[in-house]
Amino acid sequence: MDKKIYLAPLQGFTDNVYRNAFHQIFKGVDKYFTPFIVFENDGSIRSGKMREVLPENNDMQNVVPQILVKDGDETNRMLDLLQELGHTTVNINLGCPFGPVVNRGRGSALLDNPDSIKDILKVATERKELAVSVKTRTGVADTNNFNSVIDIFNGHNLEEVIIHPRIATQQYNGEADFDYFTSIADKINAPLFYNGDISTKEMYANVIQKIPNIEGVMIGRGILMNPFLAEEIKGIQRTQEEKRQMVINLHNIILERYSLTMSGDAHIMAKMTAFWSYFSFMFPEQHKVFKAIKKCKRADKYMNMIHPMLLSYV
Ligand SMILES: Cc1cc2nc3c(=O)[nH]c(=O)nc-3n(C[C@H](O)[C@H](O)[C@H](O)COP(=O)(O)O)c2cc1C
Repeated sequence: MDKKIYLAPLQGFTDNVYRNAFHQIFKGVDKYFTPFIVFENDGSIRSGKMREVLPENNDMQNVVPQILVKDGDETNRMLDLLQELGHTTVNINLGCPFGPVVNRGRGSALLDNPDSIKDILKVATERKELAVSVKTRTGVADTNNFNSVIDIFNGHNLEEVIIHPRIATQQYNGEADFDYFTSIADKINAPLFYNGDISTKEMYANVIQKIPNIEGVMIGRGILMNPFLAEEIKGIQRTQEEKRQMVINLHNIILERYSLTMSGDAHIMAKMTAFWSYFSFMFPEQHKVFKAIKKCKRADKYMNMIHPMLLSYV
């Protein structure tokens, strides 16, 4: 049976505009995860984050909302809101390594705080109508606590466990520790997903060959750099002309959506620059392409520049 492929959540990149455009054009991704939503200090949720979980912006069948919470109380409030919106799944973030998140006891900070993980998972899994998954790193400064975290996972009814085997202090540096992942894979009762640094079908094949029992993989930057990656892994064949049209469509749908929903060239160009920071890897002259886009501040200039560039995709 085919392994599953999930698109990783990347704040600022895999927003609803990207997810919907991607899903309209490309095959191969089985589920999409929203970037995390989180409470502000005053208990509100920013409108940009709310947009990510609203039913009108999502195909609710294949989108899992991700939450960043610090305890059972926040979890309860988040889940009330998500269930009211009609969500039937939730993913809990135990991995975000960013300072402001960690300082407030959320994300990867929880990996040093097993009581809070227990509290959060208890509250979440008590809701029988909700499927609960976790996405986790393997520690804060080292992996010493991770076996006890696994015991907590195994004590709850989790739909899936997704592991990105980096410790938080690593941020995104160095490599994901695939050997560590293989050493703990058998200990996890829930269906298991590997995440981290897969950017080619050969790398995917290597992961699956070494740990054939995993349910699938989650891929982030590899798909942003090559939107065909999931199709290539699943053996979906495309002609060059088809591929060129898909690349152009992905770009155009995203541009159209941002142009309709955002006001002012600066905002639109900021979103398009973020998109191109990965998408430019599709083009032989990646650095030149990205440099030109970064410099461009006006949407009309951008339009003139972009079409020859898109057509240069071979
Ligand atoms: C800019 C950026 C934003 C991210 N935002 C999130 C997020 O909101 N939630 C989350 O669980 N992981 C987030 N991640 C981590 C990714 O989901 C993923 O675990 C990581 O990039 C490793 O996978 P990859 O090598 O396939 O990209 C983010 C990563 C980056 C680089």
